[in-house]
Amino acid sequence: MLMYLTEKEQRMLDGEEGYAVRKSMEILVALGNIYGAEQLIKVGSVQVAGVSYHNLGDAGLEFLNELAKDGKVKVLTTLNPAGMDLENWQNLGITAEFAEKQNLVIDAFKKMGIIISCTCTPYFIGNLPRYGEHIAWSESSAVTFANSVIGAKTNREGGPSALAAAFVGKTPCYGLHLDENRVPNIHVQVDASLKKLSDWGALGYSIGKKAENKIPYITGIKDAELDELKSFCASVVTYGAQPLFYMKDITPGSENYSPPKETVTIEDKDIKDAYDNINDEVTDIDLVCIGCPHCSIKEIAEIAELLKNRRVSPNTEFWVATSRLMKQISDKRGYTETIERAGGKFACDTCMAVAPLKGRFRSVATTSAKGCYYSRQNKMLTKMGSLEECIEAAVSGKWS
Ligand code: F3S
Repeated sequence: MLMYLTEKEQRMLDGEEGYAVRKSMEILVALGNIYGAEQLIKVGSVQVAGVSYHNLGDAGLEFLNELAKDGKVKVLTTLNPAGMDLENWQNLGITAEFAEKQNLVIDAFKKMGIIISCTCTPYFIGNLPRYGEHIAWSESSAVTFANSVIGAKTNREGGPSALAAAFVGKTPCYGLHLDENRVPNIHVQVDASLKKLSDWGALGYSIGKKAENKIPYITGIKDAELDELKSFCASVVTYGAQPLFYMKDITPGSENYSPPKETVTIEDKDIKDAYDNINDEVTDIDLVCIGCPHCSIKEIAEIAELLKNRRVSPNTEFWVATSRLMKQISDKRGYTETIERAGGKFACDTCMAVAPLKGRFRSVATTSAKGCYYSRQNKMLTKMGSLEECIEAAVSGKWS
């Protein structure tokens, strides 16, 4: 059966509101029909991925320019990281040719009425949905955070389908928008001790691998800080498949379910195995990057504290990836000055996965399991460890 459209939606599909809305309706109707959606539902906000010119290329830029001719977003819409720091790109070794193209991409999004936030942590900068709200987000860690930590409802949208939802203000109601598809179906008993932030990335790796395509209901974790959940979200969806989990007594909605019958356990050995799989044999480190997902202000404060009166090695670059808003708070609090005095650099609006880094660095150290996954795709050797270990690597140029 084909998806039901209201009269107004049909008129939008017929072109009454112009090219961008017609194109968007075509995308949403095609998706809805493929996945068996009965109707479109309103979304409270949109988060659009596919912002880096590095990934879009000229064909992507052309597609955006076409839509920008008459397309205006109907709901709050923010952007995922771009391929460069929009203000400080020269300092991060970005070429003028790349910057010119990236700026054209940003101009197109601006014309559409999108907030040029360029972050994978939209929930830190004002795009914060409420519990149960339907949204259309596309960045995988943000989607997982929204579904699991906030309790909003979103599928993992592609860049074009998220944009389409922004122009229409609606998305097809299928997948994780339906409660029956949000029921956990594997119990993950955690019997491992988690001591540092990167352990949460290792935990995400282990659970992602063991849960495969199932929705985990996690027990055995007594407490979790926001940054730990943020890191876990990025990792569990990168190494697993589902952008949704429940953590007993920690995430909302977990009280509605009992642990499913099928059970797997995570022990200290699994955490160690995760590190063994994520880490390469490498000692010399030429890039240290913290902020995957983008750093919170608390993480920036910790970095500043650890870098006080220290100096980044001349053989190493040290990047703090974060949103521009966090950087502005950091400026006011004096953290930026401390980090830059030590030789560190802020990489706002961008990240280690979508910046054109291939061939520039041989090795990277980070606190992030997801960061390691994408750095390997950029042909870099990877080390994951605590913030303290990463700062030591930045100062000495070596992983010890
Ligand atoms: Fe964010 Fe980039 Fe990591 S989008 S989650 S910083 S790979």
